[in-house]
Amino acid sequence: MTELHWRRRREKPSEGEGESEARPAGLSENEVDVRRMMELEQPDWLEWEQSRLNCFLCNIHRYSDVCLTIGFLYPSLSKSSVVSLKMGKNMMILWLLLRITDDDKKQMRKKSIHACQSTDKDVIKEAHAENLMTNLSNAYASDLLPSKEGEDLTKCFLLRVVNILLHYIEKTFDVKSKILDFHHPHQLLEGLDGFDLELSDHPESLEQLLVDCTDTLKYGVKTGHPRYFNQLSSGLDVIGLAGEWLTATANTNMFTYEIAPVFTVMETVLLKKMCEIIGWRETEADGIFSPGGSISNLYGILVARYKQYPEIKARGMAVLPCIVLFVSEQGHYSIRKAAATLGIGTDNVIEVKCDERGKMIPAELEKNILQAKRKGQTPFCVVATAGSTVFGAFDPLHDIADICEIHRLWMHVDAAWGGGLLLSRTHSYKLSGIERADSVTWNPHKLMGVPLQCSALLTREKGLLGACNQMQAEYLFQPDKVYNINFDTGDKTIQCGRHVDVFKLWLMWKAKGTYGFEVQIDRYMELAKYFYKVLKKKDNFKLVFDAEPEFTNVCFWYFPPRLKHIPESFERDQELQKIAPKIKAQMIVEGTVMLSYQPCGDKVNFFRMVFSNPATRQTDVDYLIDEIQRLGKDL
Ligand SMILES: Cc1ncc(COP(=O)(O)O)c(C=O)c1O
Repeated sequence: MTELHWRRRREKPSEGEGESEARPAGLSENEVDVRRMMELEQPDWLEWEQSRLNCFLCNIHRYSDVCLTIGFLYPSLSKSSVVSLKMGKNMMILWLLLRITDDDKKQMRKKSIHACQSTDKDVIKEAHAENLMTNLSNAYASDLLPSKEGEDLTKCFLLRVVNILLHYIEKTFDVKSKILDFHHPHQLLEGLDGFDLELSDHPESLEQLLVDCTDTLKYGVKTGHPRYFNQLSSGLDVIGLAGEWLTATANTNMFTYEIAPVFTVMETVLLKKMCEIIGWRETEADGIFSPGGSISNLYGILVARYKQYPEIKARGMAVLPCIVLFVSEQGHYSIRKAAATLGIGTDNVIEVKCDERGKMIPAELEKNILQAKRKGQTPFCVVATAGSTVFGAFDPLHDIADICEIHRLWMHVDAAWGGGLLLSRTHSYKLSGIERADSVTWNPHKLMGVPLQCSALLTREKGLLGACNQMQAEYLFQPDKVYNINFDTGDKTIQCGRHVDVFKLWLMWKAKGTYGFEVQIDRYMELAKYFYKVLKKKDNFKLVFDAEPEFTNVCFWYFPPRLKHIPESFERDQELQKIAPKIKAQMIVEGTVMLSYQPCGDKVNFFRMVFSNPATRQTDVDYLIDEIQRLGKDL
């Protein structure tokens, strides 16, 4: 193959300047090389025709009668400009030698616009298929919109991106595909098969960006795979995904109605709906979507403290007594994090004992409150958990609410995981008493399967969030705006800019209806019951709690044959401790399933199965059990 080298030109040359110098030897005076498709280095002044021609050239090979095609699409070129065209065997190697006149450019532009506007469905379909095949090695981000004439290339590039994503989505749902292609961090840092994470000073071609997109997905984890059970948030909801795409396209900020009119109103609609489901009267309730359950929990504690001590906002912790809060020993670690962040201190988070199922013991809570008071500490808040992270336990909310009332404490319910169960008429009783809470964390990105991230903090008292957090920045929250400024909700938050997390949830709710979520969630509960029953019958598995699961969490140990008959002892547990990590390591390496494990209190490492993935079927559950046995039998 002949190599033609061009001097890279950054400026548009003046009339006649540089042409002879830049022209490869052997080409006639009137010919300009548009170069090999895969090569970069394009003179900027050829920018427009380059990108257009790239699309054109890549598609030509699909036609047997090249001249006819050229004539059809670009009559002016076919007449005067096309000199030669060669095609390689496996890879298309095209050289188009032509002279582009201003007239040509105009004609090409007109023709292309005309082709795009064609109403003939087949032509449009064909054009789409062609766009997906277009090689973008010579095109750069600077050629895309808003660059002049960037529409076609932008369409072409985004269609290619969508094609990559569609391929990934198909693979995600293909049970035979691997969940991950595991590599160690140092391997990713060193670069894998040309996938280079290092950033360079020079732009990469769009083609390279597409390769990077493919590689990014290739070396990631398919969290929507039917056998991905690793996290509480899993699954890939196509409507939610569409919502996320739309959100990213709108690329706006939630702080004011002014710049997010639809989304801010949508947020109020969703918050109202969620408050109603909790059982609060709509006029009283309030809330905000936040970047995750940990932040929602932080909001809950922040508001609890503000309610009791509004002076905190201006004067800080120094004016407060030694305040303490309570959470069960199975509560999420974000509560301690919040205490650290808010200056309360982790020592002032008192962990309340749980029963064998992981539920807070109300008598222990009461005891701890009295003890704290005796020590001169000032209790201000109790965090109850509705759906604990590991065991899926629901604290007894009515009992806790009674205690909070007696001691005049704020009751926050962390229903980040379990909140979705409120949508199930069969199972919502497990959160009975949540309506008595002062604030609630509820993550639709967990049980409801909304793409990450989507979490709400809901408060029973209206106005508290605003009073606690607002700073009335004059450049954003002007009081004399043309619309009802109650919809400028941004000052209720601790953020300034805020991502739009509501649209995907709203769209999914539209798509499923509340009943659709219910069906989905009830199915997870059925799967959990099935899983529990199967494990119960197997003598090489042991359930951490031998009772029907209350939620979708099922915790268990696997005993390889060599440990199966050894009676419980410290030595046996030392060995058992190593089993789950070893099986998990092999799962990751083989990429067949993903499941979480942890130790907890006096219990050595055990697996935690959770159901929150709509793609999971009973056969996947059976597969998981077989896979654990296969990977663990010789350990
Ligand atoms: C009970 C509970 N609360 C809070 C969180 C934190 O939620 P996020 O991961 O959205 O910050 C989790 C996360 O798993 C959780 O299980």
